[in-house]
Amino acid sequence: MINWKSVSMSLSIKPSRADRPDFAGVVDGVDIAAGVSSEVAAQIEEAMDHYAVLVFKNQQIDDDQQYAFSEHFGPMETATGDIARSDERRLSMKINDISNLDQHGNIVPRDDRRRLFGLGNALWHSDSSFKPTPAKYSLLSGRVVPESGGNTEFADMRAAWDALDSVTQRECMDLVCDHSQLYSRSLLGFDQWDEHEIEENAPVPQRLVRRHPNTGRLSLYLASHAGAIHGMPMPEARIFLRDLNEHATQRQFVFAHEWNQWDLVMWDNRVVMHRARRYDRHAVRDLHRTTVADRAPTLEQPL
Ligand code: OGA
Ligand code: MN
Repeated sequence: MINWKSVSMSLSIKPSRADRPDFAGVVDGVDIAAGVSSEVAAQIEEAMDHYAVLVFKNQQIDDDQQYAFSEHFGPMETATGDIARSDERRLSMKINDISNLDQHGNIVPRDDRRRLFGLGNALWHSDSSFKPTPAKYSLLSGRVVPESGGNTEFADMRAAWDALDSVTQRECMDLVCDHSQLYSRSLLGFDQWDEHEIEENAPVPQRLVRRHPNTGRLSLYLASHAGAIHGMPMPEARIFLRDLNEHATQRQFVFAHEWNQWDLVMWDNRVVMHRARRYDRHAVRDLHRTTVADRAPTLEQPL
């Protein structure tokens, strides 16, 4: 248990898994609705450097409070990664709609294009790795959660890197992958793209190995969006990425978050992958996500 005593608000954090003291902390003593000072935000960022995932329980917040909290951690992304057309949007462009609801608040039909696209969240991924400058943090607020199922799982890409043998580490070190939502969705057989969406989803290059700017720790930068490796024949690249993903998502590297209403979960996309788990499609699941952008494309960041 780490205690942060330098300010009046007492922030305490304990790891959610005893066998992983540096992964997935549960935070106590923060009231997000009330707003946090920049000192507390700096402590949270320090804790994020250590834990990579933080869980805040009982945070009854609205979108504006969630956005205001998120803005402490860097420039904000707009919600351009999803597939809803503007007249289909339920939430503002500041919020990623991670729900199974349409703009009228009804559960979308089984074959709705937004739902089928959204099922891609059940593949292991890192948010916005398909954007030239990808995401730093994602903050996900549980507004309505199903009674069972629908966990969000996180895999620690630092631990996965540390556990790789040194020969494979050397092979990975300078590789560059192409990331696109066209790759991740093709894994599911989703192909309902219009021409404009295909253009918008042109692959972007990202390093396969990253160094965290604050801790210096190395990690694998994987995602189901990664579908090619520069300079490598396609089948060889795909099987290598598949092997790495299999390695990196072994249970010893995974934390599974079971949702309660008003949980807020925050993760560092630079060092974790995550995925949604299945749930009853007749139950409402309504999560709101804000996303903090990274500073630059990964190729412009020092390794
Ligand atoms: C996300 C995401 C997983 C989930 O919000 O970015 O991938 O469990 N969510 O809904
Ligand atoms: Mn995601």
